[in-house]
Amino acid sequence: MYTSFDNNSLVKIVTLLKSHRTEYLSGQDISEALKLSRAAVWKHIKKLERLGYKIDSKAKLGYRLTKKTELLLPWEIVDGLKTQVFGKRAYYFDVIDSTQKYAVRLAKKPEENGSLIVSEKQTHGRGRIDRKWVSPSGGIWMSLVLQPNFEILNVTLFPLLASLAVAIAIEKSLKLKPKLKWPNDVTLRGKKVAGMLVDASVESDKIEYLVLGIGINFKINPEQIDKKIKSTENYYGVTTLTRKNDKSDPIKFVQILLYELENIYRLILNKNYQQLIREWTKRSSIIGKKISVSTPTGAIKGKVIQVDYDGALVLSSKGVRQRILVGDVG
Ligand code: BTN
Repeated sequence: MYTSFDNNSLVKIVTLLKSHRTEYLSGQDISEALKLSRAAVWKHIKKLERLGYKIDSKAKLGYRLTKKTELLLPWEIVDGLKTQVFGKRAYYFDVIDSTQKYAVRLAKKPEENGSLIVSEKQTHGRGRIDRKWVSPSGGIWMSLVLQPNFEILNVTLFPLLASLAVAIAIEKSLKLKPKLKWPNDVTLRGKKVAGMLVDASVESDKIEYLVLGIGINFKINPEQIDKKIKSTENYYGVTTLTRKNDKSDPIKFVQILLYELENIYRLILNKNYQQLIREWTKRSSIIGKKISVSTPTGAIKGKVIQVDYDGALVLSSKGVRQRILVGDVG
């Protein structure tokens, strides 16, 4: 596991290489600047290469960074991040059971407000309604710890907040036009590209902490996921945002996403629910459509009228107005 706050020798070397991108730095210079042995410098350079950095090394000249990694390493996420709190503290795993599970364990500690947990792969990724979330390498699997001083009522807004932020990040960084499917799916060409999961702990009507789990099929092979989950109820297919040889920068994407998440979170803090709902509705794929929603008390069919200020889906069903707070659209 790597974090953004243990400033180890590896991070110090990357920082040094980044600030000298146009010239070679000799092993001797690095070893003197960081008070490390030459052997340690060499070991770290090899490690950085394994982490996806491209480093040119030339006899007599030394080392020069030619390309940054695409792994969501915590020091890369924090470098240039424009948020105030979200993601300023970050944890990275190459593999974990579930970032959500890890985040929930951290979530009570006051210093973890805004912490981001990401993993290259998850072995037991969890989706909504306890579904399996297939999480191979190439996706963005992240959980964000939040300790908002909110009424429990606002919990239902979080899937909307997160899906809207993901949609805006996709628009801004990839110039694509995703759609939103209530309550929490982001779709592209009618297939799912991202989903959100909210785990909250509540104490006397106040949210004690909340963990926002976000899974984004950033650069995955959809067939690999398809075959594992196609028998799931209400499954409508998955797709990927970018493909194998596309040029894309997942680190920049996560930075933009965190920035958008924090902005929309502020809307909720300021009780500006209308703007959130307006922006969400603009991108909705189901307003005005006839749909069926599975709810804990059975399926409800009807025409979608709107999404309410609290995130509830409003349907007109057999002439009766129905508000649904929890459900899954078929
Ligand atoms: C959904 O069912 O649409 C929600 C999917 C949420 C998946 C993310 S991936 C990161 C985090 N860790 C998990 O185990 N789940 C969430």
